Amino acid sequence: MQQDSSHAVLITGSTSGIGLAIAHCFARAGHHVMLHGLATPEEGRALCEAFSGYAGKVGFSSANIAEEQGCVQLAADTREAIGNPSVLINNAGIQFTAPAHEFPTDKWHQILAINLSAGFFLSRELLPAMRAGNWGRIINIASVHGLVASENKAAYCAAKHGLVGLTKVLALENADAGITANAICPGWVETPLIQPQIESIAREQQIDIESARAQLVGAKQPLARATGPEAIAELALYLCGSFAGTITGAALPVDGGWSAQ
Ligand SMILES: NC(=O)c1ccc[n+]([C@@H]2O[C@H](COP(=O)([O-])OP(=O)(O)OC[C@H]3O[C@@H](n4cnc5c(N)ncnc54)[C@H](O)[C@@H]3O)[C@@H](O)[C@H]2O)c1
Repeated sequence: MQQDSSHAVLITGSTSGIGLAIAHCFARAGHHVMLHGLATPEEGRALCEAFSGYAGKVGFSSANIAEEQGCVQLAADTREAIGNPSVLINNAGIQFTAPAHEFPTDKWHQILAINLSAGFFLSRELLPAMRAGNWGRIINIASVHGLVASENKAAYCAAKHGLVGLTKVLALENADAGITANAICPGWVETPLIQPQIESIAREQQIDIESARAQLVGAKQPLARATGPEAIAELALYLCGSFAGTITGAALPVDGGWSAQ
């Protein structure tokens, strides 16, 4: 069993928010991390520099995973920088809100491509080596919107429900090879992704940003506090540890009770 050794860990969308917190958490625990996201080469270099104090290797790729070819490129960049990943964290995601009857076609395709299809393409790329090594962890950062719906999020909910379904299939297909696949389903997390939604409430209701944030979170979560990205990171790390060896095919809410209603 390899669960307590250093792993090569690919975290998509790790230039910001939850992905960045996950990358720091895994690097701090001694793993090699592949950073990834939409950033210039200079920004990529600066990001790697910020990880230079950790013991493990670090790499960066700016492959656009909205395209299948970008996913293939990211897998290749990762192998070159840190070796074959035994941990894949599909985290990159985008959001756009509008009622279904007004939802723009390009936004629909973009959200499905980044939030769902990239997770499939990357899993398909990386699973053969994980299977050969008889150990692997796939962690999909889904959302509470992989479990329940909200208005104005047709593409996001479709993608995240799809990601939860994909997670279950990967868990079943790879249990024979010591590989687990799980989805983490956060409610509101303090990151740049939710900022436009906060600003839109502030604008529409002419209230300050803090009141708008409290309103956004409180409207859905009985426990009306946004989760810190570090909490999601610690759960991802736990899922790679020795106590989590039989957790597979799960969709784990971290949502202040949102999905319990
Ligand atoms: N913030 C929340 O409240 C929340 C709640 C539930 C789920 N999530 C999910 O968590 C994940 C991370 O969200 P976040 O809030 O940290 O977002 P974020 O906006 O802070 O970061 C998104 C990351 O994805 C990358 N990215 C976006 N499009 C890309 C593309 N085409 N190719 C390559 N990289 C791309 C960005 O560069 C960035 O690194 C997403 O899947 C999101 O749906 C977030």
